[in-house]
Amino acid sequence: MTKPRLWITRRLSDATIARAMRDYDTVVNHADTPGGAEDLIAASADFDAIIPCHSEHFSAEVAAQLDPRLKIIANHSVGVDHCDLPSLKAQGIAVTNTPDVLSDATAELAMLLMLGAARNAVAGDRTVRTGAWDFWSPSFMVGKQVTGARLGIIGMGRVGRAFAAKARGFDMDIHYYNRSPLPDAQAQGATYHDTVESLLGVADFLSLHCPATPDTMDLMNAERFALLPPGAVIVNSARGALVDEDALLAALGTGQVAAAGLDCFKVEPGGNPAFAAHENIFMLPHIGSATTRTRDAMGFRALENLDAFFAGKTPKDLL
Ligand code: DGY
Repeated sequence: MTKPRLWITRRLSDATIARAMRDYDTVVNHADTPGGAEDLIAASADFDAIIPCHSEHFSAEVAAQLDPRLKIIANHSVGVDHCDLPSLKAQGIAVTNTPDVLSDATAELAMLLMLGAARNAVAGDRTVRTGAWDFWSPSFMVGKQVTGARLGIIGMGRVGRAFAAKARGFDMDIHYYNRSPLPDAQAQGATYHDTVESLLGVADFLSLHCPATPDTMDLMNAERFALLPPGAVIVNSARGALVDEDALLAALGTGQVAAAGLDCFKVEPGGNPAFAAHENIFMLPHIGSATTRTRDAMGFRALENLDAFFAGKTPKDLL
């Protein structure tokens, strides 16, 4: 039987590529450049399936121009804000994602961001690294203690819950906002807030774990930063779209927000150049799921979705 033709848009893990080559007539973009609209449209006429990353944007305009040959987009990501799902559905194209497998890696990184922001990681590293460390004082680089502090989580999905589990190791008092309260077995004692506003009032540390949708665009804006306890620390390992970056800079300027840990930005790649001057912003380049184990798991999960689809079954992660 002829193998379905598969285009892999970016350099996925070696194990993923080996398995894809074994099971599909696979072409990999070894140049690892993001696929633009024209690449995606052209590929749709040559391939039955595409495994893209969040760097490939299937907008409504792109979706409308896809060739009917393309049957499935098996994303190598949990987030699918780069895909216009209604338009792809209207074209009859199946779309899947990779939930679960990246929750721990992303939650780990959120913990790193929270600790790094709270404890002056940027200034501390720079001071030692540049040889500028010629002084010590008890009042030097005094941060905000995480252990036992109140933590607000927006979005108690898989990653939010994995983050809460890690935060319990720091004895944090966990509060959360979610569309609905979790069953007790999942909430594990965390306090539910039925509005974001109510949560913000107790969030000495705030971590964002919700998807980017039209409803969550600029979720953290000037009004909401003002509701945080003064000196709060904010962490974003979800999507840049969730934060009004000018409002964040203003809140950092007044001290309303003491520090931020960010893995996601409005503009990616690149980030916000205005953040660079602020050593109380600890930044990473969207690497929440970037561990060897998780990259393999994401690739395999995308392939399992393809396997099911081409076997005539419903893929586990069909959206
Ligand atoms: C995801 O899976 O959504 C991560 O942000 C990587 O794309």
